[in-house]
Amino acid sequence: MHSGLYNARGFFTERNASTYDQIVRYATIGRDGRWKKNILCKVQGKIVLDLASGTGILSEMIRNGTDALEVLSLDLSLDYIKISKDRRKIQTVINANAEMLPFRNRSCDCIVSSYLAKYVNIDNLVTEISRVITANGIVVFHDFSYPRNKVIRTLWKIHFKLLCLSGLAITSWRLVFSELDQMIENSKWSEELFTSLKRHGFVEISSTYFTFGTSKMVVAKKNG
Ligand SMILES: C[S@@+](CC[C@H](N)C(=O)[O-])C[C@H]1O[C@@H](n2cnc3c(N)ncnc32)[C@H](O)[C@@H]1O
Repeated sequence: MHSGLYNARGFFTERNASTYDQIVRYATIGRDGRWKKNILCKVQGKIVLDLASGTGILSEMIRNGTDALEVLSLDLSLDYIKISKDRRKIQTVINANAEMLPFRNRSCDCIVSSYLAKYVNIDNLVTEISRVITANGIVVFHDFSYPRNKVIRTLWKIHFKLLCLSGLAITSWRLVFSELDQMIENSKWSEELFTSLKRHGFVEISSTYFTFGTSKMVVAKKNG
C-alpha cells in the first residue's frame, strides 16, 4: 500500500470533515480559493471528473463556473462525501480510490484534482486517468509544493510550526498539522507526474507555481 493512502485515511476523518472548509482557508492564509480559480480557468469539456473532491469546494466551483454539463466527484472518505452532499448538494459522488477509477474508458473530457497528488502512487493514478480521459481531454493536477527560495522556505517552515502549535487547540487537525510539512517536503509528485504523463502519451505539459512556489498546478492534454 502506498504510504500516502495510509496518511489520507488517518488525515481525513469524521472528526474533521465538518471543519475542513474553514481549515483549508486558514492553513493556506486564504490562498486556496485563488488557486482553485486557476484550476477552473483550465477546465473544458462536457463531462468533468473531480478526483479527491473532499467537501466539494472545487466540484461546486466547476458546476457554477464552467460549461460542464456533468460534474462527477470522487473521494476516498465517506465522511467528506457526506459533507459535500449535505452542504453543497453535490449530486454524483463516488466513494473510491483515485488509483482505481470506476469509469468506462474514454468517458471524461476533463479530469482535475486539488491536493490529491501527494497521497497517491502517481503512475497508478496516471495509468487510470489515461484510460478514462477522452482523446484531446485535459488533465489538471494541483497540490502543495516545497518552495525553492531560501527566505520563503524559512517563512514556510515558521508557518507550519505555527500550524503545528494551533493543532494543540484544534485537536481534530493536530495530526495533519504536525505531519503535512514533512509530506510536502518529501513528495516528488510533480517530477513523477511529468515523467508519467509523457510515458502515457500526454502532450502540452505545463506547470505553474503559485504564491512564491508554495503550490503548483500541472496541466496536460491527452494526445488525440
Ligand atoms: C486536502 S483534501 C482536498 C479536498 C478537495 N480536493 C479540496 O481541494 O478542497 C484531500 C482529499 O483527498 C482525498 N483522498 C486522498 N487520497 C485519495 C485517494 N487515493 N483516492 C481518492 N481520494 C483521496 C481525501 O479523502 C480528502 O478528501
